[in-house]
Amino acid sequence: MQVEGLAIEALAQQVPTPFYCYSSKAIASNYQRYSDAFAGLDSLICYAVKANSNQAILATLARLGAGADTVSEGEIRRALAAGISADKIVFAGVGKSVAEIRYALAQDILQFNVESEPELMRISEQAHSMGKRARVSIRVNPDVEAKTHAKITTGMAENKFGIAIDLAPALYKRAANLPGIEVSGVDVHIGSQLTELTPFDQAFSKVADLVTSLQHHGIDIQVIDIGGGLGINYGEQSQEPDITTYASFAKAHLGHLGCKIIVEPGRSILGNAGVLVSRVEYVKTGQQRHFLILDAAMNDLIRPSMYDAYHHIVTVTEQTQKVTYDIVGPVCETGDTFAKGRTIGQCQSGDLVAIMGAGAYGAVMASHYNSRLNAPEVLVKDDQYSIIRERIDYDTLIAMDSLPSWL
Ligand code: LLP
Repeated sequence: MQVEGLAIEALAQQVPTPFYCYSSKAIASNYQRYSDAFAGLDSLICYAVKANSNQAILATLARLGAGADTVSEGEIRRALAAGISADKIVFAGVGKSVAEIRYALAQDILQFNVESEPELMRISEQAHSMGKRARVSIRVNPDVEAKTHAKITTGMAENKFGIAIDLAPALYKRAANLPGIEVSGVDVHIGSQLTELTPFDQAFSKVADLVTSLQHHGIDIQVIDIGGGLGINYGEQSQEPDITTYASFAKAHLGHLGCKIIVEPGRSILGNAGVLVSRVEYVKTGQQRHFLILDAAMNDLIRPSMYDAYHHIVTVTEQTQKVTYDIVGPVCETGDTFAKGRTIGQCQSGDLVAIMGAGAYGAVMASHYNSRLNAPEVLVKDDQYSIIRERIDYDTLIAMDSLPSWL
């Protein structure tokens, strides 16, 4: 198995497993698919930093012209540090603190995506006190069913995100009269890992109606942020949603409104550009099942435990003999399971496996649970590689804590 011009087997001799490995070429080509699909619209691709916020990944995307969709001061700081200019940064999230709002205002970011009325009031107050006006888009909740995992659907009436689309006109009127606010746009994001495109079609259509009516009432809407959410093929479904069709819905519904279109993809840029490489510690034959016990665990990649997510898993060296395993990690929890009853090449202790589709929501969601060291991250370009995040050592892990004076 190769990542660009490098054999994973050779890489694993240099970098101890488990480690994340990303392909620069795959990231660039996924980004390019967006710029091609949205060509013809006045658009800005704001990469969703939460999917993978490594500085090297952000810098790679910055050089391709990407902006950033951020959800915290930390992400804004990361985006700026990687060379993404403030005028390409949007700031979303339901719980923006005063400190975060002031930081974003001081940096003069492109816009705030506002999730509630109290947040709008807070932003106005803070901006006014700094002698500024914050550009805002209000996130509307179109109440469409995204047909994805319940934990990552966001655009239904019961979700905590945005404000009901029917209530939006009143809030826009309010916003237009606030001293610290400059209304700039409308924002919508309905969920993540959407593999069917119909919900986007429905959501964009509802947003188009709203924008038309706001413009009719003299509210100057210049930006429509359509969020992210395009799914990837994790190896279970045969079809990946078609990005050109997705963009064509945006063009058809929103193209004539004279607005800049912001799109916030995360997973569809990084997901299939990364794998988690792990070594088999033991092959254990239980009474009923064969277990493959890896050196990677749920603390490295939590998606299977948290969302029952399917990730394709392959042996790095092709094996003709196939065996059905439960593929698990060393963490002391039954939930530390990457796959149950999965048929892959026969393995022995020391063999390498790759967990596919791990570039997004992998390393960023990792923890030190069970006092395990982090999996380092490696970026490949052609036949070169660079360790873009080191594995910390045990002294550093222990030094993260400090003792109170009374001990
Ligand atoms: N914009 C907003 C406002 C979002 O909330 C998200 C993701 C995105 C953009 C990017 O969505 P994407 O293109 O990556 O689907 N940890 C979960 C995914 C959580 C997504 C949260 N919001 C997972 O591992 O599946």
